[in-house]
Amino acid sequence: MREKLTRLKSGTYEGAAYFDTGNGLPVMLVHGFPADHTLWDYPTRQLQKNYRLLRPDLPGTGYSPLKDPISIEDMADFLKDILVQEKIGKCILIGHSMGGYATLAFAEKYAERLLGWGLFHSSANADDEEKKEGRKRSIRLMKEYGQEKFLRQMIPNLVSANFRKNNQADVQAIIRKRADAGIEALIPYYHAMWERPDRTHVLKNACKPVLFIIGKEDTAAPMNKVLQQVSLPAISQVHIFEKAGHLGMLEIPGPSTKVLEQFIAFCETS
Ligand code: MLT
Repeated sequence: MREKLTRLKSGTYEGAAYFDTGNGLPVMLVHGFPADHTLWDYPTRQLQKNYRLLRPDLPGTGYSPLKDPISIEDMADFLKDILVQEKIGKCILIGHSMGGYATLAFAEKYAERLLGWGLFHSSANADDEEKKEGRKRSIRLMKEYGQEKFLRQMIPNLVSANFRKNNQADVQAIIRKRADAGIEALIPYYHAMWERPDRTHVLKNACKPVLFIIGKEDTAAPMNKVLQQVSLPAISQVHIFEKAGHLGMLEIPGPSTKVLEQFIAFCETS
C-alpha cells in the first residue's frame, strides 16, 4: 500500500505520526489498545479507492513518541492537530475501543469538525469499579512479568471463540505484532482509560450520524451494554456481527469494511 508517513510539525504532539493515503472525503481511523495504525490495514486498502484515509499512531504507539501522562482528551486534541496541519475542516472519525473513547472526547470538543463518527467495539460509559480493578491487576502483571505475558493472556480473549480455535496463527501474529508496544506506553493508556468520564451525553447531543459496530462475543465492549446506547443519538446506524469479538476488522475484515463504506457514503450524502 502506498502511503505517506507524516509527522506533526509543531505543538504538544510535535513529532507524532500519522499515515495518509487515498483521495476524497477525509476519514480518520483511530486504533485502540494495544494497537497502532496497522490495525486498519484491511479497511484502508479497500476504502482508499474512494476516500482519503488518515490513520494516526496515538502518542506512545507505532511511530509516535510517548507523552506521559496522556489523557483521552489529549488524544482528541492530537487528532484535531492532525486535521489542522492538513487543513481539513471536517472529517468522518471512527474509533476502535480506546480510539472510540478518543472519538467521543473529540465529538464533545470539536463537533463542528465532524460529518459523522463511529464507535467500533467501543462504549460511552466510564469504567465501572470492576473494570478499574481489572486494569490495576493488568498493570501489576505487566510490571511483574512484562508486557508479553500480559498480551498473551489478553489478546486471545479479544477474539471470538471460533476465530481463536480456527485462526491460531493469526492470533499469535497479533500477539507478536503488539509485543513491541512498550509497557511505558501501555500503563499511561490504562490510567487514561480509567480516568475518562462517562460520555453518554455526547451521544445524546450528537447532531451528525453515529455508527455502532458491535461484536456479539466482545468481552471488552459487551453487546448488552453498547445496545443501551445505540438509540441515544438522533441518527444512528447499528451493526451487530454474530461472529466477531473485539477485533472485527481482523476477524471479519470484509463485512466490517463494507459497513464502514456504507456509513461513510451515508454521511457523505446526508
Ligand atoms: C481497547 O481495545 O482499546 C481496550 O480493550 C479498551 C479498554 O480496555 O477499555
